[in-house]
Amino acid sequence: MMQINTIQTQAYADQKPGTSGLRKKVKAFQQAHYLANFVQSIFSSLDASDNKTLVIGGDGRYFNRDAIQIILKIAVANGFTDFIIGQGGLLSTPAASHLIRKYKTLGGLILSASHNPGGPDEDFGIKYNISNGGPAPEQYTDAFFAYSKTITEYKSADLPDIDLDNIGEQQIENINIRIIDPVDDYAELMRSLFDFNLLKQVISSGKLTLRFDAMHAITGPYATRILQDILGAPAGSVINEIPLEDFGGHHPDPNLAHAKELADLMFTPDAPDFAAASDGDGDRNMILGSNIFVTPSDSLAIIAANAHLVPGYASGISGVARSMPTSQAVDRVAAKMQLPCFETPTGWKFFGNLLDADKITLCGEESFGTGSNHVREKDGLWAVLFWLNIIAKKSQSVQQIVNEHWQEYGRDIYSRHDYEAVESDIANDIMDHLRNQLATLKAQSFGVYTVKYADEFSYTDPVDHSVSAQQGIRIGFEDGSRIIFRLSGTGTVGATLRIYVEKYEADASKHNQDPQNALAELIDLAEQFCEIKKRTGRIEPTVIT
Ligand code: G1P
Ligand code: ZN
Repeated sequence: MMQINTIQTQAYADQKPGTSGLRKKVKAFQQAHYLANFVQSIFSSLDASDNKTLVIGGDGRYFNRDAIQIILKIAVANGFTDFIIGQGGLLSTPAASHLIRKYKTLGGLILSASHNPGGPDEDFGIKYNISNGGPAPEQYTDAFFAYSKTITEYKSADLPDIDLDNIGEQQIENINIRIIDPVDDYAELMRSLFDFNLLKQVISSGKLTLRFDAMHAITGPYATRILQDILGAPAGSVINEIPLEDFGGHHPDPNLAHAKELADLMFTPDAPDFAAASDGDGDRNMILGSNIFVTPSDSLAIIAANAHLVPGYASGISGVARSMPTSQAVDRVAAKMQLPCFETPTGWKFFGNLLDADKITLCGEESFGTGSNHVREKDGLWAVLFWLNIIAKKSQSVQQIVNEHWQEYGRDIYSRHDYEAVESDIANDIMDHLRNQLATLKAQSFGVYTVKYADEFSYTDPVDHSVSAQQGIRIGFEDGSRIIFRLSGTGTVGATLRIYVEKYEADASKHNQDPQNALAELIDLAEQFCEIKKRTGRIEPTVIT
């Protein structure tokens, strides 16, 4: 019998999972028993179950392999007997979600800090996903945190370090470890949803040219296999395709700031027809066409409006959802298609119940996240394939597709301004200052903008009726424009204030404006309400998307 050791430990006070699992500096995770405490807290909080199988994998960032060895020992000591692990310890977040669902495991542990940088001095993270494949909802994460605050010991088995690099099964006593190809199952799922024959025809013939930036993160192997090997895009179409522990020193964050070279390329005469990028763990996407950047909010709306063109969705969609700060573009599509449209708090976990109950088929967030009921995570490559399928089917450029969409529905001009690493006290004061204004803002006018409502978003889940309060401050205007303020739940240094600004423009002659110009008055108003510049002395946001 394998020996199980009980190891004494001391609780850490800071293991509260954020928007997407526990994220800290690698150095924090390397403190004595830090990761072990959290993993034990997860296992001790789960209800007893006969299902003893877990999926484990991560985005390959620094500490990924060490973490997997620690987790395996604790999992075995806690009674798990079967493990499905991506070769090299690699699994994208959506691929892990798919494996949990496909092999009906109890859940999975995903190691990633998403788009945050990696390396010995950067970030690491761990997230538990439940049997539906989705991130553990709040009742779980609250329980993990509560346990972690009082933990005094954890269990660890005398399991040798496992070879993560060779595909195949390893049997140690009653423990069965399967190292699988991280891409196979996922590629098969994509084939079942999209018209691979059509895609192969247009991509391998060069009729549709593309560039995909994997940002030295997890989607490298996935994109290379699917876009190049299967669909026939020429070698070099997928760039930065080798996952690196430090992502080459960059932020693996697919937005205009961090995937700048790709974005710049798209505004030159050498631009391919289509370009995209994905993040550290493969759940985010940025979509670009020649001469155009598609905002994630518009992307969700366009995907919904064109879902009938894609085989996996051609039989109809049940509804759509977006996170609260995401623009209202998809609402307009839902209204026209007479589909239910849900507004959820920020974070993918809030879509889980709606997807499970089949109240929605498609969902998305302004933060470069789009997905559907095929898994319970957002999915970067899925969004890329969805777009390619639409382009191939319509034989139109990205720009034409977007412009025609705006002509039909109007444009929700949109931008997000982030102020990162703000001192926590100042950030909390800003939120209080905003809260204090809410009662008196209604019906006040600021230039052409009259406040229609001002509140703090609270969400009641339509399926389990759980309530999530304090999910961001919303100021909505009579013309449909909105300004939203919230503090990030994924940052690892100080606080990040996010300001989301949105304005509806029905007039097609005004659609091709630069968002920063079109939104200038609202951006000034946002500062008037929150005083971030005044209170921090900063002159501009850290990132504008
Ligand atoms: C951010 C995004 C949110 C996303 C999350 C995980 O969370 O805003 O939409 O679900 O990352 O990728 P935040 O830092 O704003 O709490
Ligand atoms: Zn991510």
